[in-house]
Amino acid sequence: MIKTLSATLMLTLAITGCKNRDEVNKTPEDVLKAAVKQYDYLAKQVEPGAYPKTYHATKKRLETSKSDWWCSGFFPGTLLLLDEAQGAPQLKEKALAVMDDLKREQYNTSTHDLGFMMYCSFGTAERLNPKKEYEDVLMQSAKSLITRYNKAAKCIQSWDTNNAGEMPVIIDNMMNLELLFWASKFSGDSTYKNIAITHANTTIKNHFRPDYSSYHVVVYNNKTGEVVKRKTAQGAADNSSWARGQAWGLYGYTVMYRETKDSTYLSQANHIANYILTYATMPQNLIPYWDYQAPGIPNALHDSSAGAITASALIELSGYVDKALSTKYLEAAKTIITALSSPQYFAEQGTNGGFLLKHGVGSMPDKSEIDVPLTYGDYYFVEALMRYKKVK
Ligand code: GLY
Repeated sequence: MIKTLSATLMLTLAITGCKNRDEVNKTPEDVLKAAVKQYDYLAKQVEPGAYPKTYHATKKRLETSKSDWWCSGFFPGTLLLLDEAQGAPQLKEKALAVMDDLKREQYNTSTHDLGFMMYCSFGTAERLNPKKEYEDVLMQSAKSLITRYNKAAKCIQSWDTNNAGEMPVIIDNMMNLELLFWASKFSGDSTYKNIAITHANTTIKNHFRPDYSSYHVVVYNNKTGEVVKRKTAQGAADNSSWARGQAWGLYGYTVMYRETKDSTYLSQANHIANYILTYATMPQNLIPYWDYQAPGIPNALHDSSAGAITASALIELSGYVDKALSTKYLEAAKTIITALSSPQYFAEQGTNGGFLLKHGVGSMPDKSEIDVPLTYGDYYFVEALMRYKKVK
């Protein structure tokens, strides 16, 4: 199996349908090299204090945010990963400059997204080059994040709301827990990881259906902790399976197993993977439709970001399971990476506003970011390519 993987990731004609030999013979290394050039181009367009979100091709407009948007950590995080993968000091320099602005968010207690924002950026910087400066920011971020923990509901509140007594929690929140494990390991204070474990257990209990698909939003009563309702925000319907939500769940429980070695989480991740990989209308290239029950399938849009997150999670999960399952997960990841590396998804240099992946879906119900590049799609795609190279 490892031999199969150690062979270069040849982009197969069967999957990409492309005819050009150069496109067919791309390796993860080739794709990462191209990614560095593309991010050089993107980085040059990004003004200080701005964070790339997406690109509007018709208006030729790069959309950016301020540091408090949930995606602000992905751009510096991707720059750091590309420097790690390819040695691109100019990208690292840009990342550190961006993070000098981003660090103010360590005190932000109005969002649950501090894991995304601070761990993908400062967490990566700390892993590559441990420094007190990064550690202080990460510890303060973890402190800010746990202010949102609610003892009655036994989980971390996602969004603030005007509905009195209500406390919404979204499946995406599983992605913010990695920061808390880091904080406990670093400080020796188990409070952080205990909150992460409690949150993950509550989410298993209340977010999942019998087939291991997940609801996007569970609303709790913030006094009694009872579930008030289950619904969607970014999916097709309250009862549907929003594609990126399934990917966040898979990634989140894989991290939970890595950090605790509790088999409950491994089992949860395997069940979610099974839902994703065996879903009846899952396309052959494993890039899911934006919702597993999107209206109009097979003519619905796909979400490249959900594909990228899934590929990265499957590669990690493949390291925790038996040989047969491991082979299956790695083959699935290879299929996704192959599709995302093909011209159908991977942008030609100097196009797509400087982003790597085309065809992401932010929020269909909000008519926002539809069939566009997304900063997090790029982050998890680069991570998946690097993980794939490593399993060789
Ligand atoms: N956390 C928001 C999203 O995945 O779109």
